[in-house]
Amino acid sequence: MSKIAVIPGDGIGPEVTREALRVLDEVARGDSISLEFEEFPLGAAHYLETEEVLPDETLERLEEKDAVLLGALGDPRVKPGVLEKGILLRLRFHFDQFVNLRPVKLYDGIPSALSGDRRGVNMWFVRENTEDFYVGLGGRVTRGASRSDLVLKRKAYEAKFDIGIDLKDEEEMAYQIGVITRGGARRVLDYAFGLAKSKDLDLVTSVDKANVLTEMYGLWREEVAEASARHGVPSEFQYVDAVALHMIRNPERFKLLVTPNLFGDILTDLGAALQGGLGFAPSGNINPDGVSMFEPVHGSAPDIAGLGLANPVGAILSSALMLDTLGHSDAAAKVEEAVQDVLRDGEHGTPDIGGTTSTSKMGDAVVERLAGTSR
Ligand code: NAD
Ligand code: IPM
Ligand code: MN
Repeated sequence: MSKIAVIPGDGIGPEVTREALRVLDEVARGDSISLEFEEFPLGAAHYLETEEVLPDETLERLEEKDAVLLGALGDPRVKPGVLEKGILLRLRFHFDQFVNLRPVKLYDGIPSALSGDRRGVNMWFVRENTEDFYVGLGGRVTRGASRSDLVLKRKAYEAKFDIGIDLKDEEEMAYQIGVITRGGARRVLDYAFGLAKSKDLDLVTSVDKANVLTEMYGLWREEVAEASARHGVPSEFQYVDAVALHMIRNPERFKLLVTPNLFGDILTDLGAALQGGLGFAPSGNINPDGVSMFEPVHGSAPDIAGLGLANPVGAILSSALMLDTLGHSDAAAKVEEAVQDVLRDGEHGTPDIGGTTSTSKMGDAVVERLAGTSR
């Protein structure tokens, strides 16, 4: 029996999660897998009603689960960051989900965003998920130093004290610091190179900006070289700006990319465009020895929320990633195949790829395909 916490969240989160749950029910029935779901109503509505973001008591209940399935968080009525940092990032950090696994695969039947018939998009992103510019170190300095006196300025934001010099408002300063630790880099790189080896991939591309952020990504590179040697898998270094170019011009060359947190966030939205759009992109926040959390790459999409227009495929494929991680790899493969069959048929497509199929009808199509193959 696997115990799964469900956090539908905001916007289209509940709409796409509903379809993922229906698919999970169907495959669990067919494969005699026992899944127990408990829903947690976190998100904008809960926050606006109670002022609670993520109570400690809820975290404790989540600790007893085998996995978390999440829809999306974020709402225009709530200041940016309150829900995203307060729930999503807090969960990733609390459960030390240091791997953000994001497969970028263009399934048959989905129009490619690239010109010509470019079908060879099939790469894994392993995004570091707990460090870099996401560590939450930062602040603002409004008083305490003049522009020319860097030492005073540094002291002022170390101590945040008022040394009695009035700053002009142009001198107000905001800063946010990125951190890479050797251990943090090593563990995600071990995961990435281990995954490459297990999938017989013969190249790992490390993405960074070591030509400017020389300290952080210099350390990262040292660890990449060591992990590459340790696992016997070849690797290359590429700068993030060039990767953005190559992903469009020559996506076929990439097999597995390992990235620090922020660049991974940005490049996986670009990856999502290559796989047909954000609605198709799944992800897993993984702690190989703990509670992992699965969610589509997209956000709460307030522009289409409540209209039945959302594509549930990313959420459904995220639930397949969850099954795989829970040890049900056959069931995971069946879900992926059912999605692939439905897309290849071409009869069903949500509006994001020019179709007229609603969110729930897309779910129906996958459920029916699964039911058809398991009978
Ligand atoms: P978004 O991913 O919500 O939407 C970007 C665009 O893609 C929108 O035009 C949207 O309609 C479209 N889109 C997204 N998912 C889709 C789907 N399944 N089917 C069809 N179209 C889809 O990003 P945004 O607009 O930048 O952010 C909206 C909110 O979501 C913000 O509050 C943001 O912080 C939050 N967010 C949350 C997560 C998460 O929970 N994991 C991820 C990204 C953004
Ligand atoms: C994602 C999102 C999150 C991130 C935000 C909402 C905190 O963009 O999952 O890609 O930056 O990781
Ligand atoms: Mn993102």
